[in-house]
Amino acid sequence: MATIFSGMQPTGGLHLGNYLGALRQWVKLLNSGEHKGIFCVVDAHALTIDYEPKELLARTRETAMVYMAAGIDPERALIFVQSDVKEHFELQWYLSCVAHVGELTRMTQFKEKSEQHESVKAGLLTYPILMAADILLYKATLVPVGADQVQHLEFARDTARHFNHRYRADVFPEPKPHPLTLRIKGLDGQAKMSKSRGNTISLLDPPKTVKKKIGGAFTDPARVTRDIPGTPEICNIYTMHTAVSPPDKVTYVAEGCRTAGIGCGDCKAILLESLEVELVPIRQKAEVLAREPARIDAVLQDGAAEARKIASATMREVREVMGFNADTMGAPPGPVQAGSQASPRPGSAPIPPDARGAS
Ligand code: AMP
Ligand code: TRP
Repeated sequence: MATIFSGMQPTGGLHLGNYLGALRQWVKLLNSGEHKGIFCVVDAHALTIDYEPKELLARTRETAMVYMAAGIDPERALIFVQSDVKEHFELQWYLSCVAHVGELTRMTQFKEKSEQHESVKAGLLTYPILMAADILLYKATLVPVGADQVQHLEFARDTARHFNHRYRADVFPEPKPHPLTLRIKGLDGQAKMSKSRGNTISLLDPPKTVKKKIGGAFTDPARVTRDIPGTPEICNIYTMHTAVSPPDKVTYVAEGCRTAGIGCGDCKAILLESLEVELVPIRQKAEVLAREPARIDAVLQDGAAEARKIASATMREVREVMGFNADTMGAPPGPVQAGSQASPRPGSAPIPPDARGAS
């Protein structure tokens, strides 16, 4: 059974773009029953953007809560927090010793983000190595991510290959991207829906807020008045219709827009109905979960415990092929007695006599 792995940063207030573009697809893949699912809240990746330490834990919990409210069933998939499993950071270092700087500096996200800062932190450059560690630690072979992350995934594949080649071992399978192609435009109609642009509908926005936001959203700028026809394909409202409305309604609004048979207000009212069908159950589940923070914590604790089991088994293999002591935990640091075979470090070969010193 293939393992799917994916994650999101706990940036707070996951939005409709995150849900329709990614989260809903994770749920579909998981529900197909063909895959084992591992879903991570990648809190350590969030250090590469400005954040408020006091808010991080609450956002991390909220992100996990939204995973569950959106339909990731913790009975059937692992949900855990990246920083709870230290092996991610150990593997990141080992991978950084086989990864190539040239590949990192070529990453579009690095180029774009580093241009926005005068002094660029190293984490922005090494971000994809941590992402590779996330994936490879669980030997995941299917990684559903949006188009903007596909390049990072290719880096993860290359890094898996570099590692296997350097250590002449077949430790890591190469992860395959599962590109998610749906792009939801923001309420400004200009760019993709994104928290940093303030053009989002949050998944947990109350119905009134959603109505107000949709009402104020930009549409095809050609439709200055109701009797001027428009082009649905360039309209953000239409992209949302294609994601949430039944096919007959999608056809109806597309034709209505092209022929000026309906106005933008009509089109938005239909969208609102379809959106509510999608959002009501998520909001309801989230409301229940929000009242049970202990349940979310328990899911995350269990998830981390399970994730650690997989991660430590992988790290055993990794350490072994790299020439380290495979068992780090609880290795007695006791002195080595000359001529004695007592208490060798677990997994270690006996120390040859000439390496033990003269005494
Ligand atoms: P981000 O919030 O940018 O870290 O994205 C988390 C996940 O949501 C990634 O898989 C993105 O590709 C996806 N995503 C974010 N914004 C959108 C959007 N506007 N439309 C579709 N998918 C998105
Ligand atoms: N970089 C991804 C994003 O911004 C998040 C992420 C971190 C991720 N590690 C991952 C996604 C591993 C998939 C697999 O969306």
